[in-house]
Amino acid sequence: MTHKPVRKAVFPVAGLGTRFLPATKAMPKEMLTVVDKPLIQYAVEEALEAGIEQIIFVTGRGKSSLEDHFDISYELEATMRARGKSLAAIENIRQKPGSPVYVRQQEPLGLGHAVWCAREIVGDEPFAVLLPDELMVGAPNFLKQMVEAYAAVGGNIVGALEVPDEETDKYGVISPGRTDGRLTEVTALVEKPARGTAPSNLMIPGRYILQPEVMKVLDDPVTGAGGEIQLTDAMAQLIGRQPFHGYTFDGQRYDCGDKAGYIQANLALALARDDIGPAVRDFARKLLG
Ligand code: G1P
Repeated sequence: MTHKPVRKAVFPVAGLGTRFLPATKAMPKEMLTVVDKPLIQYAVEEALEAGIEQIIFVTGRGKSSLEDHFDISYELEATMRARGKSLAAIENIRQKPGSPVYVRQQEPLGLGHAVWCAREIVGDEPFAVLLPDELMVGAPNFLKQMVEAYAAVGGNIVGALEVPDEETDKYGVISPGRTDGRLTEVTALVEKPARGTAPSNLMIPGRYILQPEVMKVLDDPVTGAGGEIQLTDAMAQLIGRQPFHGYTFDGQRYDCGDKAGYIQANLALALARDDIGPAVRDFARKLLG
């Protein structure tokens, strides 16, 4: 059976980034850099490599540098050209005309609400959701692995990642059914379960392939954990109606919404680079004695 291809990806980027103040007071958290590239660019590149054709940003006030980042920068490009400098670092960032599409969330009512704000652009086809706070490193990348799994099973697929028991209350958590390789059937989902009540320690990292029916569920939203409209609650309504799987990523997740995770990402990606890796490694050795 062939499944409708996943051509569109939604990036919720309206969040205020309060966990990263003061860095994010006047700058979107998605523009925080890991080595020399903003988080949002890693996520967009992941989507494009996975075959996504239409990038959709669900954005808000104070986020215009995201739009500029994916546009032409005339002054910069003209000046660099005039000075004979290479444009290699920036020339592939700009997307085709008409992409990304930007829609506004207006109010921070939750991830489910943010995704629902993209409903007119998503239309009646499956779509991906990527949370750019989470930097995923793998080959092939996380979304690409999920798209490949989707080609086999269709329906809805969310990331599935084991975390220690004491962390499950921070995440959406999967109630697992049968496992086949990297795919696990999802029998229920719960957002931020109270300590000691999680159905497993398989949490949902920020990668999703969803069927458009989830938008219909979100037309009539319920307030969930934290007083927010939760994507997890809406997805849970699709279980039993459509195939629903968790996918265990072959790769590394860095939680860049967390200060320690963000520093770890910078360190790991810096060490992996040919240009700066050796200098960083020398310094880290000295620092650690
Ligand atoms: C969101 C989702 C949660 C998911 C998490 C991944 O939570 O609601 O289900 O596990 O992202 O990072 P948030 O981090 O916005 O609280």
